Amino acid sequence: MMIVKTDTELRVHIRAVKSAGASVAFVPTMGNLHDGHLDLVHRGMALADHVVVSIFVNPMQFGAHEDLDNYPRTLNDDIEKLKSVGAHVLYTPDVSQIYPEGLNAHTRVCVPGLTNVLCGASRPGHFDGVTTVVCKLFQLVAPDVAVFGEKDLQQLLIIRKMVRDLALPLTIEGVPTKRAADGLALSSRNRYLDSTQRSLAPLLQQKLQGMAAAIVAGDRNFEELTSRAFAELREQGFSPDYIDTRRRSDLQPAGDNDSEIAIFAAARLGDTRLIDN
Ligand code: PAF
Repeated sequence: MMIVKTDTELRVHIRAVKSAGASVAFVPTMGNLHDGHLDLVHRGMALADHVVVSIFVNPMQFGAHEDLDNYPRTLNDDIEKLKSVGAHVLYTPDVSQIYPEGLNAHTRVCVPGLTNVLCGASRPGHFDGVTTVVCKLFQLVAPDVAVFGEKDLQQLLIIRKMVRDLALPLTIEGVPTKRAADGLALSSRNRYLDSTQRSLAPLLQQKLQGMAAAIVAGDRNFEELTSRAFAELREQGFSPDYIDTRRRSDLQPAGDNDSEIAIFAAARLGDTRLIDN
């Protein structure tokens, strides 16, 4: 696996790959890789000849009081995992490569509408940071396809809209959430859960599955369903941030006649914020 740190090296390599007629899949990450990320790499390998993975803990998507400094950085382990699944290139720029004039001076990419609800409401500016860095990484890697996990479904829908709106020349592939045997969605933040919290954590997915089953069975009382799940999670020791039923197409509140509905949730267990859908 080739490891590159600068955009110049990356561009030279990608140009050579493309002029040899190979297609490129891209998996952007913030590192601390788990089996969910490796699934994205596997999907990339099925879709293209050459897979580029980036590891960049993007400061622009963290709020002032969020866990940027403590975000787990495990580069050596990540490199071994990526080698074991056969990724071709790891791009690990430092902050000055991506934001040479600093964060505040950098042009931002903002996707209206989808970004100020759900996680965007509790993390103002978060998705602008995501779309800015992802758009820049797309320019640098020039992939034919980029692969994202459905665990961050709101992020995936926002990136799809950005690609549509800006006519970016690539396709976006979503990959189903990888779960532990007890249903907990894999996440880099799960490592912060103590053993009691870890045993409670799968309840989040169970509540969402319960709501989904009720909706599929015809229950359209979304408010009642969400407030019951909210109260039950709180009783079990969660601090729910939101549980919400939304239209998948535009993330507007789900209505009686909608058929493509996603249920989104974010809840804290102690200091750890879990999301699922
Ligand atoms: O999902 C993530 O890990 C990040 O939001 C991403 C897409 C790598 C952008 O920093």
